[in-house]
Amino acid sequence: MGFKAASKPPNADSILLKIMQYENNEKQGVPMIKDAVDRILNRPKKYKTEMVSADEAGLARAAALLTSGENVAIPTETVYGLAASAFDETAARRIFEIKGRPGDNPLIVHVSSLSMIWPLVEKMDERVSLLAKHFWPGPLTLVMKKSALISDVISAGLDTVAIRIPAHPATLRLIELCKFPIAAPSANPSGRPSPTTAFHVYEDLNGRIPMIVDGGSCTVGVESTVLSLVGEATILRPGRITEAALSRVIGPVSLAKGVMEEPQKGEKVASPGMAHRHYAPNAKVVLLEGNHAAYLRYIAEHPQEDSYALCFNEDIEGLKIPYLSLGDIKDPEEAERRLFSLLRELDELGAKFVYAHIPDHTGRWLALFNRLQRAAGFEVIRLEREK
Ligand code: TXA
Ligand code: MG
Repeated sequence: MGFKAASKPPNADSILLKIMQYENNEKQGVPMIKDAVDRILNRPKKYKTEMVSADEAGLARAAALLTSGENVAIPTETVYGLAASAFDETAARRIFEIKGRPGDNPLIVHVSSLSMIWPLVEKMDERVSLLAKHFWPGPLTLVMKKSALISDVISAGLDTVAIRIPAHPATLRLIELCKFPIAAPSANPSGRPSPTTAFHVYEDLNGRIPMIVDGGSCTVGVESTVLSLVGEATILRPGRITEAALSRVIGPVSLAKGVMEEPQKGEKVASPGMAHRHYAPNAKVVLLEGNHAAYLRYIAEHPQEDSYALCFNEDIEGLKIPYLSLGDIKDPEEAERRLFSLLRELDELGAKFVYAHIPDHTGRWLALFNRLQRAAGFEVIRLEREK
């Protein structure tokens, strides 16, 4: 294992990390995850966290901090990232500590041009340039065999590296100013919903990092599609760029097993992040797949205290409980944009039980399904179609 924190004397962070590693793989471990996340959120504050605009002056200061080995939260078009220089092992290791991230979960490396990728990988095949032409800058991450420049901290001991060119102009400018690739996972404590505004990051990491660059609300709202190009092209994490869109460019693309199914305890998965419980609000979430009538009937027949519906505009009429809407039922992209904000809002409202609705789990719905399925701890109920 590349992450060497275990060899250091135990401290609060490494103990917390152990709890997270253990509990993330336990379906029933929700209360302990909550406890661990709370303890991350309540750790002593080391910094006075500054919020800066994503203008030239703000980005220059963020670049200076990253160059001096600090961690800074940055906007991207998908979700906010917690950044470090990809060439600074100490700063990269600190990302795992700040997030309480299991050491077996590698980081994505962000670059601003294709030419920056060459030194980071063993080789680039023609699929990379084809995909880059269609989807970069944008929410697509490619996994390739790594070169010796990528440390075991970044790759979590794997022989591969995940790389993307993000579409947010501020992120691209920041990388240009830094002149080094930026490693950045989502800027949330592990297990929490990913942040899609600078304020979300502030709620989670205030006092733990010196700076947050405010680049506005994320326009995509769910994390990038992760595609492995080691051998056959395989989707490790679904996102805005769908299987259909990818296969139009490079031919057949398959879905890794862990995308749809709950990994068994101890099972090796292609993308370690898939094995971990995610995005969970404090409430118990059940994901109901089916049409509007079947969804309403299920809620009516299975009443719960302090319950909320996480639903679509079309469901609102006929609901007898409070709700938060993901938008129009024909618009999965809008639902993706809203999802993580709404999961946070459910916590603020004190929801104890959430009936989440999804009409379908295929095609453009897959990314949303995948996030909700994890928020629901894989408790998905397929409803019969009703008129
Ligand atoms: O949109 C995004 O991808 C955002 C923004 C900040 O760019 N980043 C993000 O990072 O979502 P993170 O760390 O939250 O998720 C990275 C995912 C994890 O599921 C991880 O296991 C997978 O990518 N991953 C990273 N490196 C990998 C590798 N070498 N092989 C397989 N999976 C990898
Ligand atoms: Mg994440």
